[in-house]
Amino acid sequence: MRIPVLTIDGPSGAGKGTVSRLAAKKLGWHYLDSGSIYRSLAIALQNASVDLANENEIIIVAQAMVLEFECNDELVARLNGENITSQLGLESTGNLASQIAVLPDVRRVLLQKQQDFKRPPGLVADGRDMGTVVFPDAENKVFLTASAAKRAERRYKQLIEKGIDANLVDIRNEIEERDRRDMERKAAPLVIACDALYIDSSDMAIEAVVEKVLNLIR
Ligand code: DC
Repeated sequence: MRIPVLTIDGPSGAGKGTVSRLAAKKLGWHYLDSGSIYRSLAIALQNASVDLANENEIIIVAQAMVLEFECNDELVARLNGENITSQLGLESTGNLASQIAVLPDVRRVLLQKQQDFKRPPGLVADGRDMGTVVFPDAENKVFLTASAAKRAERRYKQLIEKGIDANLVDIRNEIEERDRRDMERKAAPLVIACDALYIDSSDMAIEAVVEKVLNLIR
């Protein structure tokens, strides 16, 4: 049986997570937040105090990690049985994830873990290379972006709402640095799949983006 896949790729902070979760809910499909897999590996490496220069050790930790995700309203993540949800969203975790994501062998090990999420009745997959590398045959692909200024502003508001101290200039610099690393790496860089629908969400409400994405499937 053909299992439909909708891929939503784009830079950090473009709203992929929110849009993908809402689209998956409306469609009644499974949801893969592929960034959380890279983030979980970053946490596993921190826990094991692995030297990031030691690629072999990174691969051993990646192969051994057992991940469980529960996705209701909020994502709950367990790494080797331990709840790591609160660490998952930290900026430091995202930055470390982006650094290890440049390694081709890391991406190879994590590929199957991501493809295993494709189960009936369908999958919404969000990340950087969902439509280009992980699910190249997906029939519905979206590239979701927004200006760096808008993405920084949204991230700043999220952090302040959570009571976390934040600096808008620092956030924008980090976003731009992460964009550069994710786009310029040799292995599966962030690029627009030739068959993807391009959406710039800078001046769009989330609901309008979700509607546009769902129209693609209808
Ligand atoms: O989407 P995110 O911010 O949770 O992703 C964190 C990092 O993980 C991102 O900066 C690069 C890496 N990543 C990746 O290389 N490929 C993906 N499909 C998803 C994330």
